[in-house]
Amino acid sequence: MTDAITITMPDDWHLHVRDGDMMRAALPFTAEKFGRAIMMPNLVPPVATAIDALAYRERILAALPADSRFTPLMTCYLTDDTDPDDVERGFAEGIFTGVKLYPANATTNSAAGVTDFARIRPVLERMQKIGMPLLIHAEVVDPDIDVFDREAVFIERVFEPWTRDFPELRFIHEHLSTSIGCDFVRSKSGQVGGTITPYHLELNRTDWLGSGNRPYMYCMPVIKTEADRRALRKAATGGESCFFLGTDSAPHSIHKKLAIVGAAGLFNAPVAIETYAKVFEEENALDRLEAFASLNGPAHYRLPPNEGTITLERQTWTAPEEIVVPGPEERALVYRGGEAIAWKVAQVSFQDAGRG
Ligand code: NCD
Ligand code: ZN
Repeated sequence: MTDAITITMPDDWHLHVRDGDMMRAALPFTAEKFGRAIMMPNLVPPVATAIDALAYRERILAALPADSRFTPLMTCYLTDDTDPDDVERGFAEGIFTGVKLYPANATTNSAAGVTDFARIRPVLERMQKIGMPLLIHAEVVDPDIDVFDREAVFIERVFEPWTRDFPELRFIHEHLSTSIGCDFVRSKSGQVGGTITPYHLELNRTDWLGSGNRPYMYCMPVIKTEADRRALRKAATGGESCFFLGTDSAPHSIHKKLAIVGAAGLFNAPVAIETYAKVFEEENALDRLEAFASLNGPAHYRLPPNEGTITLERQTWTAPEEIVVPGPEERALVYRGGEAIAWKVAQVSFQDAGRG
C-alpha cells in the first residue's frame, strides 16, 4: 500500500474564488496547494475586458500572502458584444490565458453570457488565428431540452460543428458530466481537452436526490447517473492526456445555497486534491494522478508544468464543515465537510530539488 506520493505541483484549470471577502476567505485553500489556477470570470458584473481582468488579477494578487508563489490565470467572459481586438490585446499582453463561454443563463452568474452563437464567430476566428484557447460551459439552455441532456445536445448542435468550422482552435470542455462528453473529448483529443471535478467523480444523482434533497450537491452541470460517474472515473484515471484537473470549486453563502431558488456550485477547494487522490487510489491509479493533476493541463494550454512538488500522505484528518466569511456572505459550507479525509498534503515545495 502506498503511504505517500510526491507529484509535480498541480494546477486547477477551473476555479471560482469570487471577489472581496469571499475571495479572501476561499483563495488560500487553493493558493497553498496549487501552482496556478484558471480564475473563472463570472463575477457580477463579469470580467469581460482586458482592463477588467487586469483589475481582478490585482485584487487576487493583493489577497495572497507576500510569500505566495501562486499564479492566477485570467479568463475573458465572452458576451454577444466581445471585441476581438480587446481579446487579442489581452492575450498578447499576458493578461488573458483564455476566453470562457457561458451560454446565457446556463449557470451561476451567466446572465451576461452568449445569447446568439452566430455573433461570437468573429471572436472565435481571431482566437483560432492567435492560438488562444476557448473554455466552454457545454450545455444548451433551451427549455425544451431536459436538464440531464443539456451536455449531449450542446455537443451535437454546437461543439462538434465548431471543431470542424475552427479546426485550429483549441477547446476545453469544462466540468465534464457525462459518458457522452468523455467520448466526445476523446474523439477530439489534441483539439479538445476536458476538465473533471472531484464531485462528478464521487457523486451520482441518487446521492444528490435519493435520500432527501441535498442542496449542497446541486451544481451545473447537474450530477448525472452512476454510469456517467463510472465513465468519468475511467476518463480521469485512465492515463489519457486529454483529461485534466479542474475542481470547479465554487463557494456560495449558506443562504444562497438554501434559498427557494438555490445557487448552483460546490465549494471543494479545502479537500480537492485530497479527493482526487482518494478516487485515483480507489481506481488503483495513484501512479496516474500526476499526469491528470499536473501535466496534461499545462500540455493542453501549452504552458510548462510547475517547478515545485507536493507530497500527499496517508493521514486522516477531518475537513472543516464551513468557512466563515466576514460580511454579509457569512459562511460557506465545504464539500465533504466533517468527513474523515484519508489523504493530507504533507509538504509543498516550490522548487523541484532536482531542477532547483
Ligand atoms: C459555478 C458557480 O457557482 O460559479 N456553479 C456551478 O454549479 N458549477 C458556475 C459554473 O461553473 O457552472
Ligand atoms: Zn465553474
